[in-house]
Amino acid sequence: MLKYHLSFGLGMGLASHAAASAVTYPVPATVPTSAVELDPYPIGPSFEFFMWPSYMTNISLTLPCLSRFSELYGKTAPIRIGGTTQDRATYDPDLDAYVSYHVDDPLEAPMTLTYGPKYFDLIPGFGAKTMLGFNRGDNNRTNTFQAALAAKSKALDYLDLIELGNEPDLYYYYWGKPVAVAPWNETQEGADAADWAQDFLDTWGTPSPILSGGGYALPGDVMPDMPSWPNLKYLITEAYNESVKAGTKAYCGHLYALSNSTVMAEEMNHSKTVSDLSHFPEYVALSAAEGRKYILGETGFHGLDDPMDAKFGGALQVIDKTLWAMSIGIQRLYYHQGTINQAFFNWWSSSQVELPFYGSYMAALALHDGDHIVATDPGTGPYAQYVIYRCGKPLKAILINTDYYSGTGERGETTFTLTGLKKGLPALKALRMTAPSSEVNASSASSDPAQAATIGGQVFDNENCNLVGEQDLEQVKVVGGRATFVVAASEALLVYL
Ligand SMILES: *[C@@H]1O[C@H](CO)[C@@H](O)[C@H](O)[C@H]1NC(C)=O
Ligand SMILES: *[C@@H]1O[C@H](CO)[C@@H](O)[C@H](O)[C@H]1NC(C)=O
Ligand SMILES: *[C@@H]1O[C@H](CO)[C@@H](O)[C@H](O)[C@H]1NC(C)=O
Ligand SMILES: *[C@@H]1O[C@H](CO)[C@@H](O)[C@H](O)[C@H]1NC(C)=O
Ligand SMILES: *[C@@H]1O[C@H](CO)[C@@H](O)[C@H](O)[C@H]1NC(C)=O
Ligand SMILES: *[C@@H]1O[C@H](CO)[C@@H](O)[C@H](O)[C@H]1NC(C)=O
Ligand SMILES: *[C@@H]1O[C@H](CO)[C@@H](O)[C@H](O)[C@H]1NC(C)=O
Repeated sequence: MLKYHLSFGLGMGLASHAAASAVTYPVPATVPTSAVELDPYPIGPSFEFFMWPSYMTNISLTLPCLSRFSELYGKTAPIRIGGTTQDRATYDPDLDAYVSYHVDDPLEAPMTLTYGPKYFDLIPGFGAKTMLGFNRGDNNRTNTFQAALAAKSKALDYLDLIELGNEPDLYYYYWGKPVAVAPWNETQEGADAADWAQDFLDTWGTPSPILSGGGYALPGDVMPDMPSWPNLKYLITEAYNESVKAGTKAYCGHLYALSNSTVMAEEMNHSKTVSDLSHFPEYVALSAAEGRKYILGETGFHGLDDPMDAKFGGALQVIDKTLWAMSIGIQRLYYHQGTINQAFFNWWSSSQVELPFYGSYMAALALHDGDHIVATDPGTGPYAQYVIYRCGKPLKAILINTDYYSGTGERGETTFTLTGLKKGLPALKALRMTAPSSEVNASSASSDPAQAATIGGQVFDNENCNLVGEQDLEQVKVVGGRATFVVAASEALLVYL
């Protein structure tokens, strides 16, 4: 860390680093027209449906770690409850338990489950604005609407959005769900979605709008061997009529890396992240034309379990994806929390805070208190810069170097020069997120603390999720409206403007 304190001013000492490179990005003094408005609560968790009671009652890090977000937001962080198992769940009004299922291996998700009224008591118990997913795949409206009305009676004040079905584009190809009739193309799915929505709205009554529309796994024809049609445009412009649209409060999609590469250096690349999000401006615009927000109801690094998600490079991708998503107008991202101790993208396990949490927290640290964001790099290289505004003035900038570093050999570094800063500004303070390599994970530090990922020199305590250690704020001088920051391969730096 000390090295950075010495590299004040204009990047002294860089000459000895063969891999050094440089970028110069502006910090517009006023909110550019291309900036987008920020939601004050931009990041929350999505809890896999069958695991929601466990997360709330039996996994000790859930509540303390979510408090870190609530502290930033000044309000309980928004949550979503849903996922593949919402379409395997049967509501049983006589069940005393929160949820009932059997698995042979605790690392597996159940193929069927039942849940009872107490399941919904946990929603006001936690007290967050909640997006709640119900079963459409099994095609039992009686059961699903009975469950929704029970949720209404127990948790109405907290129900922000209701989702009828998770990733319906995969119902036929992947899961063979009863509702999906072959070939299950957009005509069929759209008609079924609209019919369910209207039927639900007639049963539900008020408040309305309440529904989340879409919920597709994929943003179009983007992956081999997957349905090629998921298409919010069809849903909005063809399938939904005015009555269904009036009951739809937000449009939604899911996003995991659109590839099956296992190469971290490719997957964490800023331009790859930008490319994965390139389908979404259209959906944001379509939603906006209906006066609705667009959200990512479920996201994480990779959709199929990939160990790289738990590594530091994955944490950096989470920051980058969140901020690019915000800068194209996506209102909120719900980061999925799957089977405990199994899903690599989870924010914590039963025993430790995982690195994806560091990434999500760092992104929230950059975004909170802001009202607008703009990406000021072109999105074509590995070096990202976002500027966050409040009340018309630049508040923070975050610089992300998404170059990979294996941990051996010389570590590359990039000099970011920020231009257009207010003249006469004193030195700027900055908080660095770093780790010894892109490859370390939270377990790496258990035997050797030097392997830890840190935010401003601090780590999250595995007992209570508190940030511990002394916070290290770096200082860099502003000279003639410019300031220069050295960011090593696989690091992020939050600059307070
Ligand atoms: C609670 O967590 C413990 C340890 O992680 C686990 O063995 C147990 O099965 C869990 N119980 C429930 C009801 O989830
Ligand atoms: C649908 O749900 C209702 C209410 O829970 C139940 O009585 C009925 O048996 C279910 N239908 C099927 C086909 O499973
Ligand atoms: C979808 O399949 C149905 C049933 O085969 C068919 O009537 C409809 O034209 C198809 N839609 C598209 C867009 O291919
Ligand atoms: C709107 O579409 C739904 C679902 O297809 C249908 O049930 C409803 O009758 C339609 N409403 C109007 C006013 O056309
Ligand atoms: C995975 O990658 C291989 C090799 O690049 C490619 O042939 C295959 O189609 C990919 N599969 C998916 C599902 O993306
Ligand atoms: C990152 O993406 C850019 C643009 O697509 C590409 O030129 C570069 O080779 C990629 N780097 C890695 C390590 O994949
Ligand atoms: C985490 O890193 C350790 C080495 O420090 C390694 O043994 C372990 O397999 C890694 N875990 C995952 C999930 O990649």
